Amino acid sequence: MKLRLLFQQMANNLLSINDLSKKEILELIEFANNFFNDEGSFRRESLFPDKTIANVFCEPSTRTKSSFAIAAKNLGCSVIDFNIENSSVQKGESIYETIDALNLMGIDLCVLRHPESIIRELAETLPEMVFINAGEGSISHPTQALLDLKTIIDHKDKLDDLNIVIIGDLDHSRVTSSFVEGISNFDIGSLTFCGHPEMCTKYRDPKIGRYEADMATALQDADVVMTLRIQYERFEKELNLDLETYKSEYQLSSEKLENAKGDAIIMHPGPVNYIEITEAVYDSENSVIRQQIANGVAIRMAVLSRFLG
Ligand code: CP
Repeated sequence: MKLRLLFQQMANNLLSINDLSKKEILELIEFANNFFNDEGSFRRESLFPDKTIANVFCEPSTRTKSSFAIAAKNLGCSVIDFNIENSSVQKGESIYETIDALNLMGIDLCVLRHPESIIRELAETLPEMVFINAGEGSISHPTQALLDLKTIIDHKDKLDDLNIVIIGDLDHSRVTSSFVEGISNFDIGSLTFCGHPEMCTKYRDPKIGRYEADMATALQDADVVMTLRIQYERFEKELNLDLETYKSEYQLSSEKLENAKGDAIIMHPGPVNYIEITEAVYDSENSVIRQQIANGVAIRMAVLSRFLG
């Protein structure tokens, strides 16, 4: 594989989707396609048998953590499943000292999820370690954006000229912020933000796109509908929310979906709570949510290949 030739211009770390140009985003997505076999399973290529990655997750994760581990193993890497709960962080060691220790033990690449915005400082302080951002508080989640863009291309063959709607708790969503950074490289038709006004304060007057409080209006002629759960764990004060009222206004149901185009795709980064989306819509033909999960492995194989290569 011509990994070095393909990726030689890219940065050393993946801290934000803004670290990638439009060309690099499309190259990574194209490269990820190579990691699927014809029958849809993942190819195994022992490209990096000498490399070791550490999965350092300081917040819960199912999809991102497991898919990075599977992607690394598919590429022949060794994987350290670093457990923060049983680590010396519990004895007062800082995250910097922790990752420095992993670096001194020969870890080549650190996949980091952390509730605070520390990854850029860590990357500057430990330049010999490669960092991949696997979720930074409410700020960014670049590999999620890459797999979301890949999933849209898989179904729509393009990213340009599409009407995209994002619905839910946008203020706490690193998925939304990275997706917006990624999609702003393309000439989309429209980008509409929708959700409870108290959960969309950052998107009422967005740099790109528009805010629409009424879900039926937001969904008009949509090609892509992304739904997001309420991130209760990030609210600083208790949510006094009547869930039935919330669902009547902001839950994606089959009835509300009729406002979108008939072939609109339904996305969700997971985990799904069935407050933001009904089970019927999750299970519908329009739903590509389970394909997003599979694309997560292929995208992370492409990302690891590039940043280890
Ligand atoms: N989409 C996402 O980041 O899921 P996990 O929290 O399960 O990794």
